Amino acid sequence: MNYSKAASKVAAYIIIAIVITAIVVGVGTYYAVRTTPKTVTVPTTITKTMPPTGASPTLTTTTTTTGLPSQITFYTWWAGLEKFAIDKLISAFEQKYGIKVVKTAVPGGAGVNAKFAILALIMAGKPPAAFQVHASAEQISYFMSAVNHVNSFVDMTNIAKEIGLYNTPAANAAMLSGHLYALPVDIHRANLLYINIHVLKKYNLPIPKTLDQLINDAKVLEQHGVPAFLQAGADQFTVAMLWTQIFLAVAGPTKYIEFMYGTLSPDDPSIQKATQIFLELVKTFPPNWMSLDWTSAVAALVKGEGAFVVDGDWVTGLLYNVYPKVVLSPVDDIKPNTDIVVEPFPGTQGIYSLVIDCVMVPKGPQQQGGVLFAKFFASRQGQEIFNPYKGSIATYPDIPTNIYPTEAQKWEVKQYGSAKAYVYALIHGGLFDDVWQKFLQSSILLAQTGNTQLWYNMIKWALQQEYKEWSESGMFMGSYEHPFAGYLPPWAKKS
Ligand code: GAL
Repeated sequence: MNYSKAASKVAAYIIIAIVITAIVVGVGTYYAVRTTPKTVTVPTTITKTMPPTGASPTLTTTTTTTGLPSQITFYTWWAGLEKFAIDKLISAFEQKYGIKVVKTAVPGGAGVNAKFAILALIMAGKPPAAFQVHASAEQISYFMSAVNHVNSFVDMTNIAKEIGLYNTPAANAAMLSGHLYALPVDIHRANLLYINIHVLKKYNLPIPKTLDQLINDAKVLEQHGVPAFLQAGADQFTVAMLWTQIFLAVAGPTKYIEFMYGTLSPDDPSIQKATQIFLELVKTFPPNWMSLDWTSAVAALVKGEGAFVVDGDWVTGLLYNVYPKVVLSPVDDIKPNTDIVVEPFPGTQGIYSLVIDCVMVPKGPQQQGGVLFAKFFASRQGQEIFNPYKGSIATYPDIPTNIYPTEAQKWEVKQYGSAKAYVYALIHGGLFDDVWQKFLQSSILLAQTGNTQLWYNMIKWALQQEYKEWSESGMFMGSYEHPFAGYLPPWAKKS
């Protein structure tokens, strides 16, 4: 990889993102929580399975581990109304290991602010003990900003083997060229449509199953002066997601993956078609869409101020934690008292657009604590605590569905297991950070101005940049033997 060029590019967009404050805050936090390593005694309980006739004795041993800190920092964007799952996970970890986790939750869904705060700390050589990261290209953006590149981070492949995660499909998807540089902790889905069923009923409209039906529903609502799509301009990412879901429906999974790797031609007609549909649907946004963030868009959906929200299943988590009276049903099992229906974005049925949250651990003084935290988080126990509240599903396929409090999650387990195709979400890790940031901003500009020329120029640049950054890294998703979605980009080499 041409790291020096790439790193200077990363530096440029970080400065644009005005994250100098993040350096100050982050470094301050680092010094505030930096403590002298201590010796921690970790009790380990080993249960031996005995033949049915015998009693099952419990053997308690004590592992003494030196060098563990008394507290560690964890950077995340699971803040505010999204804090429930992470807070449960952190308190379970603290209880088990007696190590305090200082959670720095930088608000802004999809990491719109947190990613740049973390990049800044890495560039300053003062990374947190562990941080939240998506699978795919986003991880390589961190490598490019670190002094020793990929070697600045702990290779988690062996830890994944230790905790039984390694052979799972989600772990395969989260690999870069056969290595896990971060441990996956959940599976989210990006190609979802949340529907206020009362709004559709009021205007006698069907639950849309195809793109044409969706466009028609939206137009009818517009004619009645009712907003159709509650996409959120303030934190940008759900507006960009709307374009990517339309693109997925129009182009299909293979071209979507080619977009991620930059191997798709910028002249592919699906790009124009998706853009035209996007601009049709933008007309049905509410007048205040620029002031909504994804959580206030969900609040508006709950109130019936619009019919649709295109977003990922963190919306399921938000509804479960914050709106316990709202009845959410998956499209295949709509209960009579249902308020909100969730379904695959029309035209993408059978495709699972993955969003995999992972934990990455930089090498350095906090490494041991960071690894312990990541390992616990990604373990069965950690995932069984976290996922029910998060709206996601666990990465271990054999975890029973009765851990999930919502029907929507149980439905997702089935959808995930029976999907015909998998893609990796462009807006949640599939794009390099510089491309991603420009893509988000440009999608807002496109929605505001309708200027397609600027948008197509951006897409052309984005495709070239994705190709360049992926090929310079030499990396790809999955392993050479099992490339993600069966797609090996041209630069992939057997290692
Ligand atoms: C994504 C993340 C999800 C959820 C969402 C909204 O980036 O993967 O777990 O947090 O942002 O903030």
